[in-house]
Amino acid sequence: MDTVLTNVNMVALTPEHGYQIVSHAHIGVAQGRIMFVDNGPLPACHGHPEIIDCQGALVTPGLIDCHTHLIHAGSRAEEFEMRMKGATYADIAANGGGILSTVLATRAASEETLYSLANQRLDGLRQEGVTTVEIKSGYGLTLDDELKMLRVARRLGEQTDINVSTTLLAAHALPPEFAHNADGYIAHICKDIIPAAAQEQLADAVDVFCEGIAFSPEHCQHVFQAAQQHGLAIKGHTEQLSHLGGSALAASMGAWSVDHLEYLDEAGVRALAANQTVATLLPGAFYFLRETQLPPIALLRQHGVPIALSTDFNPGTSPIASLRIIMNMGSTLFGLTPEECLRGVTQYAAQALGMSHQRGQIKPGMVADLAIWDLSYPAELTYRLGVPDLIGRMVNGQLFPASRHPIHSPMRMLSHTAGDAYDH
Ligand code: NIG
Ligand code: FE
Repeated sequence: MDTVLTNVNMVALTPEHGYQIVSHAHIGVAQGRIMFVDNGPLPACHGHPEIIDCQGALVTPGLIDCHTHLIHAGSRAEEFEMRMKGATYADIAANGGGILSTVLATRAASEETLYSLANQRLDGLRQEGVTTVEIKSGYGLTLDDELKMLRVARRLGEQTDINVSTTLLAAHALPPEFAHNADGYIAHICKDIIPAAAQEQLADAVDVFCEGIAFSPEHCQHVFQAAQQHGLAIKGHTEQLSHLGGSALAASMGAWSVDHLEYLDEAGVRALAANQTVATLLPGAFYFLRETQLPPIALLRQHGVPIALSTDFNPGTSPIASLRIIMNMGSTLFGLTPEECLRGVTQYAAQALGMSHQRGQIKPGMVADLAIWDLSYPAELTYRLGVPDLIGRMVNGQLFPASRHPIHSPMRMLSHTAGDAYDH
């Protein structure tokens, strides 16, 4: 055993009882994995584990942000101003703004610049207990620029204290080089970009934007088929602004998740349920676009569809690097319970990334990704905003104290006595 966390108030997410606190729990960790979870007497441990008394701190699975466009350059604050003066997201996109303005800025940026911009944004998420992030390409839209974005994403996962899942989103917008030739661009994605990303092992999944201002369901189907031929998982931005049937299509092809879903209908919900596809809701984009059409929460619940929540961090529709704010919006805007919100950023977010067998829950065999909180009740995570109440994170078995937490917290005190393991 490498580390044993003792005196933990552990949040267990059980299917039957929602979340439950197991008090005075111990969590044993070896080689980055959870070996035991118990609340009896401390079991005998081999080796000389570091014993950390958490003094009753609340411990949840590390939070997972399962849908982000974290890598990009430029800012769209001017478009925000235009929208506040009456322009719509679709108007701005049709006039060459929107996604395309971020594409030009991202193409012009070096990998170094993109890396440091994204790493700074990640910091907002780290301070809120996030241990895993999905990062999409989609602001390059050429073979080289899409691979550049994915390389930066992979490097963030390898060189920082966060797990990264990468998604190729070349089918995000039609690049200027293919103006009026969506068929040609989709063929290029299928023939060149997907094979190269797969060959270099830069993408875990392939995503599309299925929408009137982006790509048709037929185009998306071609992209999904090419992805699957190269062994990559699929997911979709679907039913965000209108109903085109992209969600049902993606689900019928076995998508890990479909995301946004404000315009999803009951047939679509049934397709998700039939294929165990996660519904990832993005209340930040709903809020930022001042959308009024709510996703079909009641139907998703009724059909037992797993609901994930994510920031959708991006410069156009959700410049919000806070998963806690998103959890709060999940409740206040979408009516999800705090328990649904917590499950949506842990267990079901893991499922949306095809990693539910490894992450998103605290049980033996899972990767030791934990968030340790100066809180006494899990609903506080969703209820209160802006207070730095994270004590620390465990990522792949390694502890990282939160830099913003005040010095008197139990983990900070331990960081003074326990030495190197905490000095990050
Ligand atoms: O998830 N819906 C499409 N893509 C992003 C927005 C990207 C942008 O506007 O830059 C989203 O909302
Ligand atoms: Fe998105």
